[in-house]
Amino acid sequence: MRFEGKNVIVTGANGGFGRAAALRFSSEGANVACVDLLKDDLSDLLNEISSSGGKAIAIAADVTQNTQVEAYVNETVSEFGGIDVLFNNAGIEGLISPLENYDEEMFDKVMEVNVKGVWLGMRHSADAMRQTGGGVIINTASGAGLMATPTMVAYGASKHAVIGMTKTASIELAPAGIRVNAVCPGVINTRMMRSIEEQTIPENPEEYVKAVSERTPLGRYGEPEEIAGLVAFLASDEAAYITGASYVIDGGLVNA
Ligand SMILES: NC(=O)c1ccc[n+]([C@@H]2O[C@H](COP(=O)([O-])OP(=O)(O)OC[C@H]3O[C@@H](n4cnc5c(N)ncnc54)[C@H](O)[C@@H]3O)[C@@H](O)[C@H]2O)c1
Repeated sequence: MRFEGKNVIVTGANGGFGRAAALRFSSEGANVACVDLLKDDLSDLLNEISSSGGKAIAIAADVTQNTQVEAYVNETVSEFGGIDVLFNNAGIEGLISPLENYDEEMFDKVMEVNVKGVWLGMRHSADAMRQTGGGVIINTASGAGLMATPTMVAYGASKHAVIGMTKTASIELAPAGIRVNAVCPGVINTRMMRSIEEQTIPENPEEYVKAVSERTPLGRYGEPEEIAGLVAFLASDEAAYITGASYVIDGGLVNA
């Protein structure tokens, strides 16, 4: 039980990665604060955690709003007594569109959620972690933070930014005993990939799945539980000397 008595915040907890990570942390003994836009959406996850003997709370927050991020951090501290781990994971894909036609409002929205939301999460949780002598932050970047993303100009820019912020934060927060790393998943089986498949080949989304799986050296999409395993490793004491790193988990896709 690597996280016995540890307090973990997961943002985007109603999504594929968030749900898998919340369950993984809970199965290893953590108290989990599950954050997403709507509290009601989190009730299944909370029931699943409590029925297997774990402890979790649901918090509604929009990660783009400073006061709501401050509030999810404060609520976690008051419920659990502190924060040991932040899985800073909420994100949106935006649109599939050539860059000349990309919708301006959507460009701003993607930046707000994927960049500002990640910064605000680090800002407020770092304050709380300082009080208790340290902690760990894991930001969700993407393979899209390392390579070109034709037709996803905002998403690619936002995930490059997450990697940049992770490096900066790792240096600023090291003296406070806070490690900061990023995960860079490739294509993983969640709602987000369904949206990308359907926007890219509306008449036959399965064709996208087939083409991308064939291009991936390991020949398939990843599963959210595989991301949760990496996140749990980075959050654990086994990763005590790792900070400022961006871990690729993509079946080989970024090198293909
Ligand atoms: N699925 C993939 O292939 C893949 C690959 C690389 C990176 N990622 C990244 O992983 C993260 C999780 O994605 P996922 O695949 O689980 O997608 P998902 O759509 O299943 O989950 C995203 C969650 O974030 C929440 N969210 C969105 N905007 C929010 C906001 N403003 N405030 C609070 N919560 C908000 C959504 O409600 C949703 O529950 C994202 O940052 C995504 O960019 C996904």
